Formats: sequence, C-alpha cells, structure tokens
Amino acid sequence: MKQVSVKASGCYDIYIGGGLLEGLGKRLKNSFPKAEKILLLSDERVFSLYAEMVGQELSACFSLCTFTVPQGEDSKSMTNLVALLETMAEANLTRSDLLVALGGGVVGDLGGFASACYLRGIDFVQLPTTLLAAVDSSVGGKTAVNLSAGKNLAGSFHQPAMVVADTDCLKTLDPDILRDGCAEVIKYGILTDKDLFEALFAGREYAMSEECIARCVEIKRSYVEEDEFDKGARQFLNLGHTVGHAVEKLSGYEISHGAAVAIGTAVISRVAVAQGLLKKEECRRILSLLEAFGFDLECPFAVEQMLSVMLSDKKRAGATVTLVMPFAIGRCELVKVKVEDLADYIKKGMEE
Ligand code: GLY
Repeated sequence: MKQVSVKASGCYDIYIGGGLLEGLGKRLKNSFPKAEKILLLSDERVFSLYAEMVGQELSACFSLCTFTVPQGEDSKSMTNLVALLETMAEANLTRSDLLVALGGGVVGDLGGFASACYLRGIDFVQLPTTLLAAVDSSVGGKTAVNLSAGKNLAGSFHQPAMVVADTDCLKTLDPDILRDGCAEVIKYGILTDKDLFEALFAGREYAMSEECIARCVEIKRSYVEEDEFDKGARQFLNLGHTVGHAVEKLSGYEISHGAAVAIGTAVISRVAVAQGLLKKEECRRILSLLEAFGFDLECPFAVEQMLSVMLSDKKRAGATVTLVMPFAIGRCELVKVKVEDLADYIKKGMEE
C-alpha cells in the first residue's frame, strides 16, 4: 500500500493499494471516532458489485444508510443533489457523521458537493473505483453538479477527509472507462515526469498499478497544495483539456472525456511544434504513446466549430486564452494566446 498526504485547507491521507476495501470500517472508525452514521453514495453499477462487501464493512462499525444514482454524467444533477441532501437530513446525519462516495467522478463530485452544503459542511471520504477518479477527481476537492447551461457550473472547493483507492476495483472496469483514466495518467507524465511517461509504454497494467497511481497523485498534490482554489498553477492540470472540452461538447458528450483529452493533447503538442516550442521528435513520442493506448487522435470537428466552443468557455478571462503547452516531455508552460491568434494555433494543431 502507498500513502500520500495532502496539506491544503483540509489535510488528508490518500491510501492506494489492492484489497483496501477490506478493513475499511475499522480504518474509518479509527480516523473518525466521533462519527456514528455514514451515508454511502454510489452508482447502481458500482453498488451492485461492491454493496455487499462495503455494506458489511461499514455497518459493522457505523449506522449505515445508502443512496444510489444511475450510472452516468446525467446523475450529477441538482435534482439528485437535493434528493441526497434530503436523505442525509432524514437520516439525521450530524456534523460528526460522514458521507462516503463509492464510485467514479460522478458520485465523487455529487457527494463532495452534498457534503460541502449539508450543515454547511461535513466530512466526506472518497472511494474511487475508476482510474480517472483515483488519479484525478478524488484528489483536490473540486466538487460540483451540472446545470442546463453546462457541466460543473454549481459547486465548491471542499477537500475530502480521506481517499481510499482500492486498485482491485480497476479490474472490473469497462476497458473504455479504464482507457479514459489512462489519458490523465499520460497527462501527468507530459506535465512533469519523463520517467513516468516512458514507463507507460509498458501499457495499461502499469497505468493501473499502485506505483503509477501514487506517482500521479503526488503530482496532482503538488499543484493542489500550490494553488488549491485554481487561480494559477492548478491550470497546468488542464493540459489537453481546453481543446478536449470543446471536442467533448461538440460531440454531445458521445466522445468520452479521456478520448477527448487525448485528441486535445495531440492538438496542443502539434501547436507547440508549430510555435517552435517542442521538438518534433518529442511530439511524435507523445502521439505514439497516446496511439499505443488505442486513442484515435483525429479531431472530427472543423477549426471554426472548435473555436466557437473554446471562446464561449465561461472560464475564459478577457482577450486571451491560456493554453498549457508542452515544451518538452516532462515540462510544460502556461502560454497566453490572443483570441485573434487562436484560430491559427488550432489550425496548425489539427494538421497532421
Ligand atoms: N481536474 C483538474 C483539477 O482538479 O484541477
């Protein structure tokens, strides 16, 4: 087992390893001795796989109630948030009690936001069961639900009180969902760790290993500790995402997050070569790794379509767009691009 500690506004430990759901009840009881009740939030698929085991673990040490939502992004809704808060209130959860989110990013984000709102904030524990949640969304305290106008538009920063990532859960993952997480793992290598990047040529088995996940979490921790509230350095974590979000949105979310981020990473790497910032050979290596993981790197949308979405991004500040650009494998920089130059940049990134 590996342990990574995060020191943000809330300090917490992240445990990563096989078989960690066994013994979960005792681990939580030791760390949260005042908690008497737990609200276990999960999605229906994950719940069907782990309900018995996790239920037994938690009910041996706590009074337990459960709330499940259908699998998928649509569950990150205001309707589910309100229903979850009502369930927490009906169960008489107090400030000392816990919400435990078992699943991927959807239940992590929904549960995190509910725990931030309920009684103005109670502790929550993340039990990520996807690779993407283990290396990204369970760490760092971004919580949110979607609004009709877009994804993650209502939320808060609320750090988890503990994260327990049982790597055995990754064995039951749908291969496409596992691959989505691999895009984020590759991102960390390009951002800051050439050795991690090279090690990933070994394939998916390595990407889902305890060692690799712990390294990714350490990298994410460094950005979160430096910039918890996403005003500066945390933007680096958006490598491949500015373009990726546009691809996801234009596809009506038919193209998954990871597949879109892979396209975004390829586009931005080509832009960096065109700007003379990244060596062609390093760009080729990035594209080869993404292709080795089975990502299709061709962007299916026209430059004009991409621009209209990128420029309507509500997080954009003024007359420039900040792009995370690879200067080398393991070193990226934030580059401010004037809105009027963006078309040229993206065009170059979409050329083979
Ligand atoms: N997933 C990006 C962040 O947590 O900032």
